[in-house]
Amino acid sequence: MSLAGRIALVTGGSRGIGAETARLLAAQGATVFVNYRDKAKRADRVVGEIERAGGMAAAVRADLTDPAAVEAMIGEIRERAGWLDLLVLNASGGLERDRAPGYALRLNRDAQVFLVEAALPLLPPSGRIVFVTSHEAHFRQSRLGYDVYEPVAASKRAGEDALRERIPALTAHQISLVVVSGDMIEGTITPTLLERANPGAIQARRAEAGSLPTIAEFAGEVVAAAWADVPSGHTVYVGGADYLTA
Ligand SMILES: NC(=O)c1ccc[n+]([C@@H]2O[C@H](COP(=O)([O-])OP(=O)(O)OC[C@H]3O[C@@H](n4cnc5c(N)ncnc54)[C@H](OP(=O)(O)O)[C@@H]3O)[C@@H](O)[C@H]2O)c1
Repeated sequence: MSLAGRIALVTGGSRGIGAETARLLAAQGATVFVNYRDKAKRADRVVGEIERAGGMAAAVRADLTDPAAVEAMIGEIRERAGWLDLLVLNASGGLERDRAPGYALRLNRDAQVFLVEAALPLLPPSGRIVFVTSHEAHFRQSRLGYDVYEPVAASKRAGEDALRERIPALTAHQISLVVVSGDMIEGTITPTLLERANPGAIQARRAEAGSLPTIAEFAGEVVAAAWADVPSGHTVYVGGADYLTA
């Protein structure tokens, strides 16, 4: 599908799944704003890769837990593009060592909701918001996860619930929300951090699930969800079929 003329913002687009999502959206023709917190070089590298491949992108800095920074980022997008067809809520955190208590909830719930409210005036009817989450978070009430990840899982599930509560208000603006939930993704930082606290965790999950999705597979599903003809509130599951049958 050609996304020429569509404008997208991918939060946490400087690495991992967000970076690949940005590349795939741009490869299909979208103009992509690549948000990052403080790794400007990484974000610039992603933008450079997109431009060399013939796409259009720009890096936009904002720590999403800083409301003034978020408003400034939205103001920059308004000035440069005028509107936003797609908001991909990919940025996530809480496993970092140096963060204050409550940081996971501030980023994974409060900041997501704040960004949606701030972006709302830029999203036209038929605009879409995609919230990216993990099976450990999405299914945390029905399945025990790793202790070290629990604050992140709880905060991401709280973020998902808070966004779902806004579906009626979004529907009034003809804007839809789609959630994309994934199993552990091969080659990303989070499982590596889990592995440190729980040696063997990745191999155990691989054995349990059969295989784990790659970054490219997961990002491909995020991009597909961005334009899929599905009702607001729909959830796309990527990998981990055992979560669905448990
Ligand atoms: N990894 C997995 O196994 C897995 C599985 C299922 C779902 N997911 C979901 O996929 C998404 C991406 O995961 P990932 O593993 O690719 O993440 P990651 O490698 O940890 O990247 C996180 C991104 O978020 C940005 N970020 C972090 N804190 C931020 C803040 N306060 N403000 C703005 N940006 C911030 C980072 O920017 P900087 O680089 O500038 O710090 C980075 O670009 C997350 O929503 C995650 O829950 C991941």
